[in-house]
Amino acid sequence: MIESGVDIAPAEGKLGILLVGLGAVSTTLVAGVEAVRLGISQPVGSLTQMGTIRLGKRTDNRSPLIKDFVPLANLDDVVFGAWDIFSENAYEAALNAGVLEKELLAQVSEQLASLKPMPAVFEQNYVKRLNGNNIKQGANKMELAEQLMRDIADFKAANGCSRLVMVWAASTEIFLESSDVHSSLEAFEKGLYDSDPGIAPSMIYAYAALKSGVPFANGAPNLTVDIPALLELADKMRVPICGKDFKTGQTLMKTILAPGFKARMLGLEGWYSTNILGNRDGEVLDDPESFKTKEESKLSVLEHILQPDVYPDLYEGFSHVVRINYYPPRGDNKEGWDNIDIFGWLGYKMQIKVDFLCRDSILAAPLALDLALFLDLAQRAGMKGIQEWLSFYFKAPQTAEGLYAEHDLFIQLMKLKNTLRHMKGEELITHLGLEYYD
Ligand SMILES: NC(=O)c1ccc[n+]([C@@H]2O[C@H](COP(=O)([O-])OP(=O)(O)OC[C@H]3O[C@@H](n4cnc5c(N)ncnc54)[C@H](O)[C@@H]3O)[C@@H](O)[C@H]2O)c1
Repeated sequence: MIESGVDIAPAEGKLGILLVGLGAVSTTLVAGVEAVRLGISQPVGSLTQMGTIRLGKRTDNRSPLIKDFVPLANLDDVVFGAWDIFSENAYEAALNAGVLEKELLAQVSEQLASLKPMPAVFEQNYVKRLNGNNIKQGANKMELAEQLMRDIADFKAANGCSRLVMVWAASTEIFLESSDVHSSLEAFEKGLYDSDPGIAPSMIYAYAALKSGVPFANGAPNLTVDIPALLELADKMRVPICGKDFKTGQTLMKTILAPGFKARMLGLEGWYSTNILGNRDGEVLDDPESFKTKEESKLSVLEHILQPDVYPDLYEGFSHVVRINYYPPRGDNKEGWDNIDIFGWLGYKMQIKVDFLCRDSILAAPLALDLALFLDLAQRAGMKGIQEWLSFYFKAPQTAEGLYAEHDLFIQLMKLKNTLRHMKGEELITHLGLEYYD
């Protein structure tokens, strides 16, 4: 099917990427972009920077880089802003996070030191293990939202940006469920004036972003934009949103392996996953209420990929356990263990052990970059509301009401690339390929 494509405004001028939280992921992102700009590193792990896209028939030999195919902001045109509850600049925060080597950070120290976080909207009730002093004061939550909107407008003017996007890379908040205050924009705005406890800081940032016409991506598992009130606002303001929880480490491995088991009709008895992690994220997740938020997001993937209702003989009642243990010596260099009990022909049992010695922020930083660039593209292409084509990047992808989320990484990638083809009026690729045999 030949598509007609959509009008996409050019990526003119500067793009401001506003990071909520200037911790391990954010500083690794900012330092990485600076290093790439200086030509001392490669943007490994970033689909927007290194990925290609096949166009037309296999015999056409057309596979441009994605960044040459769709008009993405150039990394030289990106400028970063941030909020954090600690006032240390991005250089100090990167040294504390301990992800990147001091030698690399020294080469971008000037650029990092110039990024100083704006005072945050924060309440300890929502992240029990943290206590900072770079925090906004306001009579109620609406006043705090207004202060954020002023920050956004001031940042845009001071840095001469033509466009902005916001990415939540701050700590995981306690588990919240959608309730009455989230049910409509009207109820939510009243809740802001009343400082309703159902409104978490992440929702105040998201509200400020959407009200300012700024796209919002949620890199953590908090509820945040996953509520009717903010969906209504995104729709009204014609702003794209996506979430939630960057798909890195163990869940990435799950969404690579599980589709393979299902494709081969191999059964699953159980999947036990445990992690040891020693960074601040690990410390926050050591609190049961923050862990619950993470657990919900991590547990959802296998059920959806394996479809026990469609394949009861293979997947009904499998056991799925996820643990995260805070273990300071490991810092950001997490270890994720998986024990997978599968069965094959005639029910014969087998085991797979995966021991992923990964680096959390090294895996997450390129996702945050891609999300910022793709959300900006979506905005210029007039795409509003939930951007399901970006589910490739998330553990718990947001979808339209009543739709189950697609977790299979390969289906997600196909959806992403077909969306880009659709935007540009290129033929969608179905992999049918019968024409080669006519
Ligand atoms: N690294 C990964 O692989 C990965 C994967 C999925 C999700 N995440 C999520 O991304 C988030 C960031 O991870 P990280 O490793 O950078 O954590 P981090 O603890 O190093 O950084 C988070 C920062 O957010 C700040 N913060 C907390 N609440 C804030 C608020 N209300 N406003 C502004 N700043 C606030 C903290 O002070 C801290 O500096 C976490 O929620 C984590 O669960 C990370």
